[in-house]
Parts: sequence; structure tokens; C-alpha cells
Amino acid sequence: MSAFLLAIDQGTTSTRAIVFDRQGVEHSRSQAELTQYFPAEGWVEHDPEEIWRHTVQVCQTALNQHGVTPGSIAAIGITNQRETTIVWDRATGKPVHHAIVWQDRRTAPLCQALYSPECEAMLAQKTGLLLDPYFSATKIRWILDNVPGLRDRAERGELAFGTIDSFLLWRLTGGSVHATDATNAARTLLFNIRTQQWDEELLSLFDIPASMLPEVKDSAADFGLTDESLFGVRLPIRGVAGDQQAATVGQACFAPGMIKSTYGTGCFMVMNTGEQFVQSKNRLLTTIAYRLNGKPIYAMEGSIFIAGAAVQWLRDALKLINHAGETEALARQVATTGGVYLVPAFTGLGAPYWDPLARGSIVGLTRDSGIAHIVRAALESVCYQTRDLLEAMRADGASLPQALRVDGGMVANNLVMQFLSDMLTVPVERPRVTETTALGAAYLAGLGIGLYQSLDELSALWQLERAFEPEMDEQRREALYRGWQDAVSRTRSRT
Ligand code: G3P
Repeated sequence: MSAFLLAIDQGTTSTRAIVFDRQGVEHSRSQAELTQYFPAEGWVEHDPEEIWRHTVQVCQTALNQHGVTPGSIAAIGITNQRETTIVWDRATGKPVHHAIVWQDRRTAPLCQALYSPECEAMLAQKTGLLLDPYFSATKIRWILDNVPGLRDRAERGELAFGTIDSFLLWRLTGGSVHATDATNAARTLLFNIRTQQWDEELLSLFDIPASMLPEVKDSAADFGLTDESLFGVRLPIRGVAGDQQAATVGQACFAPGMIKSTYGTGCFMVMNTGEQFVQSKNRLLTTIAYRLNGKPIYAMEGSIFIAGAAVQWLRDALKLINHAGETEALARQVATTGGVYLVPAFTGLGAPYWDPLARGSIVGLTRDSGIAHIVRAALESVCYQTRDLLEAMRADGASLPQALRVDGGMVANNLVMQFLSDMLTVPVERPRVTETTALGAAYLAGLGIGLYQSLDELSALWQLERAFEPEMDEQRREALYRGWQDAVSRTRSRT
């Protein structure tokens, strides 16, 4: 059988294609940066046509270099930024609006209008989610309500909805497959993760016609073949998962209690809870880690909207750095932030606060505060936010994990990793492959095509690169964390 697996990782800021071999070793890659559109305060959009163009381009490049050829690919796996919403015309395949990105807050008023404690309890019980603009349902509704003529067209069955995976599947298969996987469906607020069905009550609550929805499959399944015109051969698509779930697979977090955190644009901490749907009392999400052979494996998730994006902000908005790699040396110029805290609530606060109207702040500035303090505060904010999530998971009954497996661009920063371990009092484990999201998609494709027979095989492939052990004394740690909590309370729009 052909030896390679192609992962398409369509993220918030970039689109990548990475080719792995059966051992999970990378052989080839290509990447393109994605344009971000901010049409109004709190709004974030992507151009689906650019996403599509980049996807084809990065795949074609990765499939034709370093000894990789399209014919050497056994299967394709797709992983994607989740929740981001596209509506397209079934007849032409053309999107009817830009993609509304997961970070977009435009539907905060709609969420407020729909809110009641009973409604939120019902949503949590069925979907594991909260009533927040983050998820797809209110974004679909916004498109149908705001683009003239679309509601009628949706009612007539002319429009299709999909998260990015669905849209790419549709395009890659030449419009013959309208499907998604259970992990992506689980982020829409329309999918009942207990029954594994689109839910009538939810569709009517958000006023969304069922005809728009994709078929929901396992994360390793037959998602069709690519159109021959794209890569010269028809390649089977056999794996699909949302990026955080794919990272959970790539990190081999297959046993209940295992946790990973991915530091990309945001930070997403996912704890495997096995076959058990654990409902949070602390505003964490319940979600599907992966679904194989029709069996969902559940997870608890803490979602932070800004992690790596805080470093991008230092670079692009404040122009304090030219490159993310400079932050470690800059932050090391000072031993502490000198009491400065940066709360990066640029698009509101996610878990466990869920405050879409909060906006970022820097507190504790003095005449001595300089660039190094602010940079260090931005890096530390990522660790404090992770501690917020772990505290919430523990309050929900989770025991302190044996280790936290980390991945994503930011984990190259040793200062952040050490501070993270100190804040959590947990060993932080950085694996050899930190492109864990893409790796997880490749693994799912490999499972789907029969290249791997079991999850145990994947667990055996996971390799540690470096572990960071907690070193900070308790008094200092707790004093620092109290300072963070105080800074967050001053940043919130409501308490
Ligand atoms: O839920 C949003 C998440 O899937 C986005 O991930 O890696 O693009 O920041 P990322």
C-alpha cells in the first residue's frame, strides 16, 4: 500500500498541507497565510475562495516535493478551525457570504435575546456547549437574516451550510459529498452529542432549515475521493476532525484523564473523559474528542480565544517585536513582570468566564514598566489562562493530571513552558512532533484506510522531546495567580 498520509490543516491564520509517513515522520509541507478581515468592531471574516485556493495550492506543492508524489498518498485527512461558518449555493458551490470566523462576536445581541437559564441548561444538556457567539448556529442565522433573499433560498433547499471541513470536502470531491464528522458537528449548537443526531428542537430555536446540514460521519470514515483534476489521481479522504480534536488524537490522549493543550491562535485544553459525558458546573464545554466505529469518546474542553494571537498583537499592533521567536529573549531580560498583567480579552473572554463584551487590558503599569515587562506579561497570560481552565476542570471533579501534553507554535518558547509547569504544578510534556493537529488528521486518515489497526499503535508512536517540571515555590506562585485573578476581574464587562 502507498506509504504516505496527507494532512490538510486549515487553521485560523494559515492553511497547511503536511505529508507524514506511517511512523508519523514529516516528509513534506507547504503553508500559506490567510487574510483576516475585520469589517466591524468584534467581527472577523475569511474569504472562502482564498481558503480553497490556498488549500489546492499547498496540497499541490506538498504532493510534489521531497520524493512525495500524489500516487504515494494512501489517504487524506482534513482538520480545521472549528465553528467557522460557511453557507454556499448547492448549484454553483459558491459561498453566499464570507466565512464568519469562530472569534466573531457579531451575534452577541442574538445570544442575549435567546438567553434564559432554561435555554442554556437545555443547550448544555444536549450539545455540551453554551449560548455564545463562538459556535456556528447564531452565525448561520445571522447570514440567513442579513443577506437579502437567503432565508427563502434556504427554505427551498438551495443552500448548504458547513464548517470549513465540509466546505473543503464539497470542493475536493467536486460537489459530490456534503458531510462533516462528529467532532465538527459537535461545535455547531445544532448537534445533540448524546444521540449523535441533528436536533429538531435546536434547529427550530435557531430557525435553521434542516436541509442545509451535512451528513455526520465518524472521524475516520469514507469521505469520498478527490476530483481527478486537482492532483492527477483520485485520492481517498478518510479522516476529518476539528483541529483541537485532531490534536488530541495526535497527542495520543486516548485514556480517560489524559489532557492536551494546543497553543495556536487561541489555547484549547482538552481532557479525554472516555465514554462518559461529563457536564461541567464551571462553564467548560463537553465535546466529542473523536468518534470511531460509531462510538463517541467525550472530552471536556476549556477554550481560550487569545494565546499566540497575543504575540501577534505585540508584533503587528504594538510593533514591539519583529518575530514571535524574539519574545523569549526579551522576556528573559527581566526576572518578573514587576506586577504588570496583560489580559488579552481582545475578542472577549472564553472559558471559564464567557464574557463576549470584555476587552483587553494591561494593569499594574509603573514608571519602571518597559517593553520586556509587557512582553513577559503577554507570555505569562497564556499560562494563567491555562491555569484558569485547569482550576475549572478540577472543580468539576478531575484530578490533577500526571502531565499536560502541549503542542502548537508557542510551545517552542521554553520560558512559557517552564512558567506553565510552575503555574499548574504539573509536568508539561512537549512531544517530538509539535505539528500535532496535522499529525492527528493523518492518523485518522490512516485509521480510515486501514494503515493502522488500533489506537494503541498510535500511542506507541508518541515521543517526548522535553518535559518541564514545576519549580516555583508555592507562596510566589499563588501570589502571582491572585494578581492575575484581580486583573481579570478588572477586565470583565460583568461579574
Ligand atoms: O475553536 C477554534 C479553534 O478550532 C481554532 O484553532 O488553531 O486555528 O487557533 P486555531
